[in-house]
Amino acid sequence: MTKVAPSILAADLLRMQQSVSLIETSGADELHFDVMDGHFVPNLSFGPALLKAVKKEFSLFCDVHLMLTDPINYVEAFAKAGADHITIHQEANDFLPCIRKIKELGLRVGASLKPGTPADTLREVLPLLDRVLLMTVEPGFGGQSLMRDVLKKAAELRLMGFHGDIQADGGINGDNAWELAKAGVNTLVMGTAFFTADDPAALVEKVHQL
Ligand code: DX5
Ligand code: ZN
Repeated sequence: MTKVAPSILAADLLRMQQSVSLIETSGADELHFDVMDGHFVPNLSFGPALLKAVKKEFSLFCDVHLMLTDPINYVEAFAKAGADHITIHQEANDFLPCIRKIKELGLRVGASLKPGTPADTLREVLPLLDRVLLMTVEPGFGGQSLMRDVLKKAAELRLMGFHGDIQADGGINGDNAWELAKAGVNTLVMGTAFFTADDPAALVEKVHQL
């Protein structure tokens, strides 16, 4: 089964409660919470206060994708706000100490790679990771097109002996989802495609079948 992680970056921000409720009722597997600092990526998004509000009302598993230059300064705040899983970027400062800190906080941990960063850069850290997140667009904005070249990294990670989750993020929709599943990606982040779908539950069901 291929899992779906809708990203609230593409949600109707004035209707956040309905948007999160839609994720829950659609049968999606987890919520993807994008955090941007205006430095690691040229955009800003959400902070721990919104995560706390979401977790107060919903029991969804929340994966926090930190697109931050200094994630180590924020992981405690996100843990306190109710994060179940935190993914940081290999390209961020203090990458390894931050991975260790997330584990010490008792959370699941992931490492993300920008499209141009080789899978091999994670070789030493793979035994510590629950998940690798392959960015299939340059991080920062929703609604971009899938970069297919990135998908070969999934097989490279398996060759390095990685048994955890392989997730992809950016430009994924109901039409190209099969390509990701075929490449060995087992969790698909979907922002625009999920929130513009006529029938989000049918989209989730279609991906689950892959
Ligand atoms: C991009 C974010 C993504 C974004 C994906 O930097 O990390 O999670 O929400 O959006 P779509 O699915 O619209 O490409
Ligand atoms: Zn993301």
